[in-house]
Amino acid sequence: MTIHVKNNIHWVGQRDWEVQDFHGTEYKITKGTSYNSYLIREEKTVLIDTVDHRFSTQFLQNLEMEIDLNTIDFIVVNHAEEDHSGALSALMDKIPGTPIYCTEAAIDSIVGHHHHPEWDFRTVKTGDTLDIGNSKQLIFVEAPMLHWPDSMMTYLTGDAVLFSNDAFGQHYCDEHLFNDEVDQNELMEQCLRYYSNILTPFSSLVTAKIKEVLSFNLPVDMIATSHGIVWRDNPTQIVHQYLAWADHYQEDRITILYDSMSNNTRMMADAIAQGFYDVDPKVAVKVFNVSKHDKNEILANVFRSKGIFVGSSTMNNVMMPKIAGMLEEITGLRFKNKKAAAFGSYGWNGGAVDRIHARLTDAGFETALSLKTKWRPDGQAMRACREHGRQVAKLWALSNEGLVTQSPGQTAAEPTESATPPVADSHPADCQCMICTVCNWVYDPALGEPNQGVAPGTPWDDVPDYFLCPECHLGKEVFVEHGNNGQEAA
Ligand code: FEO
Repeated sequence: MTIHVKNNIHWVGQRDWEVQDFHGTEYKITKGTSYNSYLIREEKTVLIDTVDHRFSTQFLQNLEMEIDLNTIDFIVVNHAEEDHSGALSALMDKIPGTPIYCTEAAIDSIVGHHHHPEWDFRTVKTGDTLDIGNSKQLIFVEAPMLHWPDSMMTYLTGDAVLFSNDAFGQHYCDEHLFNDEVDQNELMEQCLRYYSNILTPFSSLVTAKIKEVLSFNLPVDMIATSHGIVWRDNPTQIVHQYLAWADHYQEDRITILYDSMSNNTRMMADAIAQGFYDVDPKVAVKVFNVSKHDKNEILANVFRSKGIFVGSSTMNNVMMPKIAGMLEEITGLRFKNKKAAAFGSYGWNGGAVDRIHARLTDAGFETALSLKTKWRPDGQAMRACREHGRQVAKLWALSNEGLVTQSPGQTAAEPTESATPPVADSHPADCQCMICTVCNWVYDPALGEPNQGVAPGTPWDDVPDYFLCPECHLGKEVFVEHGNNGQEAA
């Protein structure tokens, strides 16, 4: 089946109604997805991306019903992940000499997956063009880390269609292809779920890339993504939405997530939620048990929240494993500009709460009061939990107004108090820091990068070659001396 997109462009992708897991089991798909491939037939015939490897046979069968494969002049691989280039091996078996246009980084990932270094790769950079006849060109735009180092977008002049690959997409399946034809609430819910669970760590890159593309002043009539719908009605709405999501996004929302051995921590969660609502009645308060609720929905709610509470019973003096896993995910997503507080019940020690607090602080949250309750909370302890919710609501409200310089006093139920450590952000002119030219993360030799085994005091020259920027995951080659980067030379 093909679907007409515009003029000589057809969708030749694959719908997947029944898929439930993505990235292993890390992303639960609730509304199906699609793997969008596009065929452009001008004087030259171009195939943009393929489909997931599980649909290789079906993809080729459909494509061969539409065209003689030997008439394909060029293949564009915007991204090598298997959901887009998975069918490439089967396709290249049929047309092995066809040039493949991709980024330099994509050669590594394409060969790494398909093991065919002999394929005719034509590497492109941002601004490179490919003439496809009828006065139309493809313009390539590198988009590293959106979603892999190899990612790029391809723009078709004349038709003004941006083939954006993962960016602006969503895991959503519908027999209709265009954004104006589907349920708008479902669509935007899936867009947010996709952004919050996959693209949040790369928000600074999203902003920079969108500004770069906008600076080209190219008209955009459609944005043809690699998952879900094609944006044709007000296509730049999703671009503006991405800019908002990438800018430390938050709503008037609180998310409380917990795991509970004996229902005690759950009781605390309910009371804290009530207390927060007492003080902040307009706020949306959502409560999730991480062992029972959809993990990706929880993370989407964290993304939307101005603050989160994370709770766990203490088990063997540590937190419960599902909370530990969730904190690992939250750390990896690198949320910005959010507040957090830990809580939990315990029997003879309360190690879980302390560990949660430390993990939230390390993950970049502005951490507030923690709260521990011994054994099952009685009426007095439940009142204290509710009062704790009230106190944190007041603290966060005041903090948002810039009025708070220290935490308030303790509540009655054995709270502990911690302050967020100050972050050093000064760089003298003679500093030895290096800055990532992609995302502006700064390597300070005095601090090293212990997460990658680089000890404090390690000069840049001694940082191992396997080092990756913690923010954008690119290598040492994208770093320059801090003072040499015009953006950060203050
Ligand atoms: Fe849809 Fe990064 O693959």
